[in-house]
Amino acid sequence: MTTYVVRPTGPLVGALEMPGDKSISHRAVILGSLATGKTTIRGLLEAEDVLSTISAFQAMGVSIHRRPGENCRIVGVGLRGLRAPRSDLDLGNSGTSMRLLCGVLAGQTFRSTLTGDQSLLTRPMERVTTPLQKMGASIRVSAGGVAPLDIEPVSRLNGMDYRMPIASAQVKSAILLAGLYARNRTIIREEVPTRDHTERMLEGFGYPVDRHTSQTVLQPDGALHAADLTIPGDFSSAAFFLVAASVVPGSRIELHGVGMNPTRTGLLDILQSMGAKIEINNSRTAAGEPVADLVAESSDLRGVDVPAALVSRTIDEFPVLSIAAAHANGATRISGAKELRFKESDRIATVVAALRSVGIEVSEQPDGMVIEGGVIQEGTVDSRKDHRVAMAFAVAGAGAAGVVRILNCANVATSFPDFAKCSQRVGVKLREEKTA
Ligand code: S3P
Repeated sequence: MTTYVVRPTGPLVGALEMPGDKSISHRAVILGSLATGKTTIRGLLEAEDVLSTISAFQAMGVSIHRRPGENCRIVGVGLRGLRAPRSDLDLGNSGTSMRLLCGVLAGQTFRSTLTGDQSLLTRPMERVTTPLQKMGASIRVSAGGVAPLDIEPVSRLNGMDYRMPIASAQVKSAILLAGLYARNRTIIREEVPTRDHTERMLEGFGYPVDRHTSQTVLQPDGALHAADLTIPGDFSSAAFFLVAASVVPGSRIELHGVGMNPTRTGLLDILQSMGAKIEINNSRTAAGEPVADLVAESSDLRGVDVPAALVSRTIDEFPVLSIAAAHANGATRISGAKELRFKESDRIATVVAALRSVGIEVSEQPDGMVIEGGVIQEGTVDSRKDHRVAMAFAVAGAGAAGVVRILNCANVATSFPDFAKCSQRVGVKLREEKTA
């Protein structure tokens, strides 16, 4: 078991390069594998979740070469070049790998089984299998609507016109990937926009996607062509340092090369409405995605009502937003965020319990929480093996009145293996304790 022990600290100062974006890294590996030709990826995230996607494609005959610190090279096999894996595909903790692969595998001519760790085996899969079954896919879901998932080949998938019942980029992406194998076009209608990395990357690999505000249309029988890409830094990783700099007095942290896709940056808007000082510099693009350098400085925050329209754009940042809220003057209300209950842990229940463990008053709601600003006290928090909760409470420890211990932090390696090092580099007094 990995425990973080974090002591209160003085100002946090320094500059950090953000590791590659996790969502974009998954998609680069998937499309690079399904393209024809050699793809080179700079800045691929070297984290367990992405390694799960890589291993799955290697098991299906794709040659993927990567060494830490070097570019990743993929020899794509083309849309119809994957081979049957010899055993079940184990996707560890990674919901994105499982749901996106489900879309790819639904269109193959071989059978496959998708499985994962204890947490992944409790996460809802029918949100993705039901629409894929509507396209004609043959997928057997385990009791309770969870993985393992058994996928059998079918002669050909049908395209469909699908109105998304929930805001989920994983579901949208699975349908688009299955749409590559359909006999006619696939239309997806979204009421709430979700991250559009799949659409952008399909275009980057030369596959046309017809995109309107709330509708995406994909024609089958196109081809993906190898690409050379640089993955932008992960806004969701930068989020921990944006909040840390905002709440620890006297701090100033620069974050270089951060992905600024507008479907991802809701936290920035919320923090700014709370009074945070964040500068956006050197706006540019990489891999068809906006990128910038950010500078965050400490400031006095005030509580806000988080607008429902920002929930989807902030979906992975609520654990760390709760720490900004704990430091703010007044109450912060989060609602319309029931999806948080289906993440790597039930993030409403986990964050509420964790905030209470460090002396913050919070009331739990079915679709969110109300956090009263106060002073974070000494305490022990259980992250429930949820990487984003573990990192959020390390930030809590930096700005606390006493020592904060965070249990079950090993899964930080699923998304941000260098988190402890980066934190220490800007002055966070974080120590890792490993016990058997
Ligand atoms: C992701 C989509 C989101 C997000 C997850 C990554 C993706 O999940 O929470 O961390 O890469 O498509 P949902 O699709 O369940 O909202």
